[in-house]
Amino acid sequence: MKDQLEALRGAALEEIAQTADLRVLEDARVKYLGRKGRVTEILRGLAQVPAEERPAIGQIANAVKEAIGTAIDARKAGLEAEAEAHRASSEAVDLSLPGRHPRRGHMHVINQVTDEILDIFFELGFQVAAGPDVETEYYNFDSLNIRPDHPARDSHDTFFVKPGVVLRTHTSPVQMRVMERTQPPVAVVVPGRVYRVDYDASHSPMFNQIEGLLVDEGITFADLKGTLLMFIHRFFGKDTKMRLRPSFFPFTEPSAEVDISCTVCKGQGCRVCKNSGWLEILGCGMVNPEVFKYAKYDYGKYTGYAFGLGVDRIAMLRHAITSISHLYENDLRFLEQF
Ligand code: DAH
Repeated sequence: MKDQLEALRGAALEEIAQTADLRVLEDARVKYLGRKGRVTEILRGLAQVPAEERPAIGQIANAVKEAIGTAIDARKAGLEAEAEAHRASSEAVDLSLPGRHPRRGHMHVINQVTDEILDIFFELGFQVAAGPDVETEYYNFDSLNIRPDHPARDSHDTFFVKPGVVLRTHTSPVQMRVMERTQPPVAVVVPGRVYRVDYDASHSPMFNQIEGLLVDEGITFADLKGTLLMFIHRFFGKDTKMRLRPSFFPFTEPSAEVDISCTVCKGQGCRVCKNSGWLEILGCGMVNPEVFKYAKYDYGKYTGYAFGLGVDRIAMLRHAITSISHLYENDLRFLEQF
């Protein structure tokens, strides 16, 4: 039994010396010194040992236990110190390294174009106004003289939130919200997101418009045309031509669509303008007296004009962007170009 114990000590000390992992080391402690461990196992044979030899065996057993326990504690301390040293060196901070520059962001191209357009109207005395993206059918349609049977109400175009509530399909409802809380003279521009069930290379289900509304005594179509021409010259350049085509919108009468000479081919005809030489950029008209009735404006006294332009389309024209989806994928390789 004495030899068995001595052999166990030798084997245990060797195993402990080779252990490089704290958890394995704890396993070794259980394996040798635990209640069902090796030392206990050997001592089970003590009954067969003559009584006078037992105290000596007991002493040896205790000495072996102590030696193994001490070895494990020492190894544990060593391993912990190693781990600490490793952590200290791997997490060390080199104070002489140059700093890392935070990446500088910038405004999204849509916001840049929006601001540029708004600034031109601010100079003319327009103020900015806003309204909710989730809008009632009353503001989005009824109060703008868009009757229930108008095709724009078709569920194919409109996202319904619940009956009577939609994601606004244009920024025009803000016209009514502004008129309800302000008396003329009114001159506002309204940037905002709008939503339609539509998705292809030139349509996104969410896109951006800027609405304009001016109401006062004696406002005429000439004021509208002059303001738009000034805007177009400022934004697209003095040599850009403007063309008005008769059109229809329920909330303006008369209504027009505004084209500019193609910014790419200067009117010669190219792929962007589909060989027409012209690009449509906005819709406009004189505010329909029906709309003034909803606003409780005196339509015998006041006249006004309104317009709505698509910011995405203008941004695409300005930067020769071929697909509207580029604007919303948030790919930094694209966005950083602007
Ligand atoms: N709301 C129209 C649209 O989204 C655009 C528009 C046309 C707005 C004429 C106007 C306007 O204010 O007078 O298609």
